[in-house]
Formats: sequence, C-alpha cells, structure tokens
Amino acid sequence: MKKVLVLHGVNLNMFGKRDPAQYGTIILKEIDEKLQNLASELGFAAESFQTNHEGEMVEKIHRAHEENVDAVVINAGAWTHYSYAVMDALGILRVPIIEVHMSHVHAREKFRHHSVIAPLAKGQITGFGVNSYLLGLRAAWDLIKDSD
Ligand code: DQA
Repeated sequence: MKKVLVLHGVNLNMFGKRDPAQYGTIILKEIDEKLQNLASELGFAAESFQTNHEGEMVEKIHRAHEENVDAVVINAGAWTHYSYAVMDALGILRVPIIEVHMSHVHAREKFRHHSVIAPLAKGQITGFGVNSYLLGLRAAWDLIKDSD
C-alpha cells in the first residue's frame, strides 16, 4: 500500500490554543484524524508526525528516505521561513513534496512570504485552514496513485 508522510513542524502541536484568528480552533489530533479518514477513503496509508525539535524533524525525513515513503506533505511552521537544515533534508528525497500552511502566509508579515522549502515542493497550499492539509494530501495522492 502506498504511504504519504505528513510532517508538522515547530509549534503546530499548539493548534487550537494558539492564535485562533489565524489557525482556528481545530487541534492537531483532529487534523490528523481527518487526514487518516481521507487516506482510508482514497485507499492509501498516511502517517503523521509532529516535533518541535529541528534535528528530530531532519532525522524523520532521513528515515522517510530509507523507508521509501511515496510522498511527503509538510507544514514546517516557522522553519519554513529559515531552516536550511529542514530544506537540505527534504532535498535528499526523490518523491513529491507538498508544502501546506493553515494560514495565508502571503497575507501576513513579510518574513512569512518567503519559504526556503518551496523550491523543493511540487506546490504550496496556503490559507485554507485544515483544508490546506486535506487538499495537500489529495494533491500528493494524485501525483503518486498511478506510479508503480
Ligand atoms: C504556519 C505559518 C507559519 O508562518 C507559522 O510560523 C506557523 C504556522 C501555518 O500553518 O499557517 O507556525 O505554517
């Protein structure tokens, strides 16, 4: 069965408690449940992982490479804007990467307009709340569903 890895970066365990004007009130566990449901409906496996530690995120991406996951959906949180370590780790992968954000990063502060991981991604989905993740998962599936 094909597998998509969904990565949640720094501070994203606090969805539901942080800045509801930007991120709503949904908590990470509910986001992951919706992702699981969508993956089962479409017929593939989704694994979610969250960490606040950059090195742990990098090591998880290394393992994704070893384990041959079929695609990665990532909300890297603030690391999106400056982490060359996460960027370099993603650069090792040879599978589609989809970048997602709950809030509309381009309508926010200037430092959020730049993503160091965007050049590695097939595309970016930003501003649709939990739907950014669900659309990202659908986009990932569409890219891998017909490959061997
Ligand atoms: C975010 C946007 C980032 O700028 C921010 O640092 C986050 C969350 C989003 O999902 O909208 O932590 O990635």
